[in-house]
Amino acid sequence: MKPAIEGGHPQRKTFLVFGKPDIHNEEIEEVVKTLKSGWISHGPRVEKFEQDFRHYKNVSYALALSSCTAGLFLILKGLGIKEGKKVLLPSFTFVSTANVIIHLGAEPVFLDIDEDTMNVSLDEIHKNMDKAHALIAVHLAGYPAPVSGLKSKILLIEDAAHAVETYLDETPAGKIGHAASFSFYATKNITTAEGGMVTTEDEELYNYIKIARLHGLSKDAWKRYDAHSTNSYEAILPGYKFNLTDIQAAIGIHQLKRIEDSYKKRKKIWEFYTNELKDNKFIITPNLPERGRHALHLYIIRLRLNTIKVDRSFIIQALKHENIGTGIHFKAVHLHKFYRNMFPHIHLPVSEKLSNEVLSLPLTAGMSLKDAQDVVSALKKILKYYER
Ligand SMILES: Cc1ncc(COP(=O)(O)O)c(C=O)c1O
Repeated sequence: MKPAIEGGHPQRKTFLVFGKPDIHNEEIEEVVKTLKSGWISHGPRVEKFEQDFRHYKNVSYALALSSCTAGLFLILKGLGIKEGKKVLLPSFTFVSTANVIIHLGAEPVFLDIDEDTMNVSLDEIHKNMDKAHALIAVHLAGYPAPVSGLKSKILLIEDAAHAVETYLDETPAGKIGHAASFSFYATKNITTAEGGMVTTEDEELYNYIKIARLHGLSKDAWKRYDAHSTNSYEAILPGYKFNLTDIQAAIGIHQLKRIEDSYKKRKKIWEFYTNELKDNKFIITPNLPERGRHALHLYIIRLRLNTIKVDRSFIIQALKHENIGTGIHFKAVHLHKFYRNMFPHIHLPVSEKLSNEVLSLPLTAGMSLKDAQDVVSALKKILKYYER
């Protein structure tokens, strides 16, 4: 069959947006209530969202922030990462994992990954651990990073942007390291449009982030303006503006309530993709861990580029013509211009290979099985047409 990019009929009439959020009426009603409540910035709904997340994760402290990136930055800063310190991280991640290290004047040390899990390689960690002060472990796509037992050897920070439902063996993401940062960006498993959450057991770090996220002030704004306040407040340190708003938390509270239900829906789509695609000679499907739990955030396939006549960008364009959106997770950080200029001699073969091969298929709780069938049919049609 002819792909749409060659003049054939597109697989779908409407465009399947990659990472479309699954928003229900409860979120919409809560946002409207918030807008009418008289307080729309950081306030009671943020505190409820934090409390619910703390219970969900069974952690001592949870702090809502404007993004996962803000959380990673404040964790590193609060733990004393600064000029002269080295931080290990996989290069196969989103750029913000590395950017925050640069912002603090510290040095990122990029590590390669395991091909099967797309997560940082344990060998690479052990080879580099002596020279570093901290390690940021990314639970890529929701697959638990292999960092059991490392917390006693190095400052371990979890980039848990993809990992709300992840478990490493028996331990939930958010409790594996000294602190973790989650993302509620628009495409994530639970969303607040933009937003993040830090979890930690470290009371000192909690106290630092609580103050630093809102200008360094001793009192939250909504407490400064409430009926019992004397309006007095004081800057204890030069803080940032990294807080979440009640409008965003209004969405998050209901997204979090449905988290297991959404997980089950994504699991059905995941299993459908794997059953349909695992024996396809043009691609490699993603693995699940033997123990623990994958958060099923991203379904990342790898194209066997030597079996087809076109490159990945062409496949992405061809899928667009079929009305299917896809994503790339990721182009390794050390391949981006800024980092290439900074570290021109780094060579990480697995990260570089995967950077050219990966393609993320749509995977959200709002998708129907028919949507997933369209993705599979369009992908199979295109790959077969361009067989080498
Ligand atoms: C692995 C990883 N880390 C960090 C982030 C940053 O999250 P945020 O956009 O909430 O700052 C992302 C965002 O997509 C990500 O994929």
